[in-house]
Amino acid sequence: MISQKMADAINVQIKEEFYSAYLYLAMAYKSEELGLKVFAEWFQHQEAEERMHATKMAQYLLDQGAEVTLLQLDQPKYDKSSISAMIDETVKHEKFITNCISDLVNLARDEKDNATFNFLQWYVEEQVEEVASVSELQDLVKLAGPDQLLILEERLRQLVAARNSAE
Ligand code: FEO
Repeated sequence: MISQKMADAINVQIKEEFYSAYLYLAMAYKSEELGLKVFAEWFQHQEAEERMHATKMAQYLLDQGAEVTLLQLDQPKYDKSSISAMIDETVKHEKFITNCISDLVNLARDEKDNATFNFLQWYVEEQVEEVASVSELQDLVKLAGPDQLLILEERLRQLVAARNSAE
């Protein structure tokens, strides 16, 4: 049985995952406004992944007999001045989420909660992958510079297609 402290911490993380979805949805709409449709598609895909991260945690709480308390979401706040700024924000946000997951793992260890510790390992691996992929995109955006973003979109289209076919 999961402790109330552990369940509360997971409920906070569910909110962080839904906030991530909300943030990436905002960035998808902003990318559309900027005429960058492939970036918009990429952010939409990130949004769907974040919702999945949240609902997977919610299902875990239910499986453990704990309550899912959907906490209030803040309005997304990010630097929307350019696509480069938004990708920088994405890298920063994914590093923040990695730290949140790490804190949860440490709590599960302190609570001697082996089931939750094991459950969280999926997120530990997922965060390594997410930080690596957004950092790669950040490098590409910086290499391309503002004048080459449409060319970069073509490369991003290939990356999105490769990812979709691998899923
Ligand atoms: Fe659910 Fe991108 O962290």
